[in-house]
Amino acid sequence: MSKIEGCIFDLDGVIVDTAKYHYLAWKRLANELGFKFTEEQNERLKGVSRMKSLDILLEIGNLNFSDKEKIELAEKKNNWYVEYISNMDSNEILPGAKEFLQIVRDNGMKTALGSVSKNSMTILNGLNLAKYFDAIIDGNKVTHAKPNPEVFLLGAKEIGVPQANCVVFEDAVSGIEAAINAEMYSIGIGSKKVLSRANIVIDSLADMKIGMLDLL
Ligand code: BG6
Ligand code: MG
Repeated sequence: MSKIEGCIFDLDGVIVDTAKYHYLAWKRLANELGFKFTEEQNERLKGVSRMKSLDILLEIGNLNFSDKEKIELAEKKNNWYVEYISNMDSNEILPGAKEFLQIVRDNGMKTALGSVSKNSMTILNGLNLAKYFDAIIDGNKVTHAKPNPEVFLLGAKEIGVPQANCVVFEDAVSGIEAAINAEMYSIGIGSKKVLSRANIVIDSLADMKIGMLDLL
């Protein structure tokens, strides 16, 4: 029997293919401000809140702005991002995501969303995915972005599962760190090299078998 009773899923890059739209919008902003922004540099922004992401981007571009200007820049990025995701359809749901969520639920485990994105509900409602989650924790419910464990600890609390019995599914380095800080297991979705601190790393949820939870 697996000790896992709760599965907590990140959204962008785990359930839906939106990480690329975040990257495109940040890249557009960087280019408009006159500097290049690579996919490798973008790894630092994954799982990080909007304002913190902007700070990292501006550090990369070696630029300084006032707080007021920064709010305007973040708003600009978000408007582009929202425009990109407004055309999303079910093709943007990542392989195996829906199927695995259903299997988890069929096996009597609880599910929670643990994302710091303030756009989470728009995406979940737009793709009819909210029904797969017993609890939804998004950027409107937390004050600290990953690697702070707040988002996952709140998820565990809302589904009523002790943190030692939770596993987190994450595509971001900061997300794996957050799971470790929450004293939870973690399964990385993506590159073994990038997500080296996760307990297990797989390419996508299509490769996830329920029996793998027994290995944790
Ligand atoms: C995370 C993404 O899920 O949400 C980050 O990995 C993003 O790239 C963060 O910055 C905040 O998203 P939003 O939609 O609130 O700007
Ligand atoms: Mg992510």
